[in-house]
Amino acid sequence: MKIGLMGLGTVGTGVVHLINQNGKNIEKKIGEKIEIKKILVKDPNKKRTTLAEGKITFNADDILEDEEIDVVVEVMGKEHPALDYIIKALKSGKHVVTANKEVIAVHGKELIKLATENKVSLLYEASVGGGIPIIRPLKQCLAANKIYEIKGILNGTTNYILTEMKEKGLDFEEVLKEAQQKGYAEADPTDDVEGFDAARKLAILCTLAFNKFILPEKIYTKGIKSISKFDIKYAEELGYNVKLIAYAKIDERDSLEAWVHPVMIKKDNPLSGVNGVFNAILVDGNAVGEVMFYGQGAGMMPTASAVVADIMDVKNHIVIQNGCEDADLLPIVDTVSKYYI
Ligand code: NDP
Ligand code: HSE
Repeated sequence: MKIGLMGLGTVGTGVVHLINQNGKNIEKKIGEKIEIKKILVKDPNKKRTTLAEGKITFNADDILEDEEIDVVVEVMGKEHPALDYIIKALKSGKHVVTANKEVIAVHGKELIKLATENKVSLLYEASVGGGIPIIRPLKQCLAANKIYEIKGILNGTTNYILTEMKEKGLDFEEVLKEAQQKGYAEADPTDDVEGFDAARKLAILCTLAFNKFILPEKIYTKGIKSISKFDIKYAEELGYNVKLIAYAKIDERDSLEAWVHPVMIKKDNPLSGVNGVFNAILVDGNAVGEVMFYGQGAGMMPTASAVVADIMDVKNHIVIQNGCEDADLLPIVDTVSKYYI
């Protein structure tokens, strides 16, 4: 499988490292080797991982017009030119994997139609929840349910900021810089702190959970910029933590309530103990009941985990069954004696 990687920032670099690190295992699972053939970047002066040597290009057509490349992985961010490249890739019969919530939240509907018309896949697991599996579970595992409600923490940067403000008594601006250095924040961190990123992710989840398309700008959104370390301290004294919550609910008349807002959450609520870059999403379905998804919502390797899994799935390979070996079982006494939690 030959890949054209668009973007070599936090996520792109993670993808290159993960394919390098786990390549042999991945090949066993899908019965095919993944090779990154070309990598699109913008800045000729940036230092790159040595693994990218000989692959860098500054011209998108080097990827989009390369007939050998069958999968385009878009991890550039922003709406344009990412959207234009995705459209061109799909029209050329290339599968597309993207982490771009800005593009999927607004244009997902038309892009899925385009992918279907061209008999290719468009996968976007990393667009919500970083490394947490949530898109595929909603599309597949929970598909039989009528889903009533989704609520959660959908932005790693703001959850990291709120956690550090609480635990270290730091100011907002100081912690934002840390989140940027760790690669959690968007290119324009206003998208994180004003709640726009969480609103985009909530819009994507609404299409999957409720089969309802909603533009992110229609979601009532308030971020965390006005929250001070004193608000967090007073909330804690009253037995609450402050979290940026994304919430969506469908009522009996099929109308949607959707908002993103800072909320004081009682300490015994499962969302209250979600700290740092971690995200959590609670889904309530009529058959399954409540299900919780939890994990690192941003960052290089967790996000690469979701992107590379999409690459593995893009041609509908049956992962695991291929190349599965007989287990070499350890004697029970050795394992049980070492077992503790
Ligand atoms: P970065 O800003 O770290 O990297 C962006 C990369 O894209 C850079 O390599 C940049 O080139 C390249 N690029 C940007 N614009 C262009 C262009 N016009 N032409 C060519 N190359 C371009 O972003 P991230 O890796 O953090 O994020 C990428 C995507 O993944 C975004 O959609 C983001 O929302 C999403 N995402 C990010 C997560 C995270 O934790 N960071 C988690 C989940 C999703 P250059 O290196 O030359 O500047
Ligand atoms: N900026 C985003 C966040 C990246 O902090 O959650 C993951 O989508």
